[in-house]
Amino acid sequence: MPRTIDVVLTADAVLPARLPGASALVIDVLRASTSIITALGNGATGVVPVETVEDARARKAALGSGTLLAGERRGDPPEGFDLGNSPREFTPERVRGRTIVLTTSNGTRALLAARPAAAVAVAGFVNAGAAAAWARERSGDIVLICAGALGKPSLEDQACAGWLTALLVTAEPAATLTPAAEEARDLGLTYGKDLERLGRDSRHARQLAVKGHGGDVAVCLTLDTTTVVPILGPGVDKLVWASR
Ligand code: MLT
Repeated sequence: MPRTIDVVLTADAVLPARLPGASALVIDVLRASTSIITALGNGATGVVPVETVEDARARKAALGSGTLLAGERRGDPPEGFDLGNSPREFTPERVRGRTIVLTTSNGTRALLAARPAAAVAVAGFVNAGAAAAWARERSGDIVLICAGALGKPSLEDQACAGWLTALLVTAEPAATLTPAAEEARDLGLTYGKDLERLGRDSRHARQLAVKGHGGDVAVCLTLDTTTVVPILGPGVDKLVWASR
């Protein structure tokens, strides 16, 4: 039976009962996905996603002093954090050999919501080809979970989900697309070939640029710069890398 590809537009819209047996690709292009992919590509031993700033501090205390605290609220690192949520901060010098506890406004919530899936991976534009290949090799339905922003869809996440959907369908034309996946695919085909336009049209990208994070937007809106696919195994609370 052909599998179904579905797209969920926000972390809050995830239906846990839909996920068992499926593979989930979690997408927060700006910036959590790109930061996680960069951290693992630069040698971090793992990224532990947690929901709140308090959870993050408690996990760091439990894991020990070598652990780095990273993340953002309203785009900036909470007090006492080692790193924010800029992919450019996760350099080999800062992260190699370290475990990172990460909390962000939407991306880490989407990751935690994806936990009931049979397998969970992190996707963005920077690893789109590798993430689609990871999903293709798995059996069962594929659910692309966009983080969105505070309960509302984000253009850049939906476009990335659509680009991934287009890659998946090209390889597997018999797959069934839900209406949400069809809509995302159309956006993905428009923006995936013109990421500069996506940077202009995305509200979150414009907000980041105003806050002085335009360099992050450029990094995040670049296609296929890495083959690192962070994965969250069943029963494991730490993302680790799978290189393709
Ligand atoms: C999020 O999780 O909402 C984002 O990654 C926010 C950001 O730092 O741009």
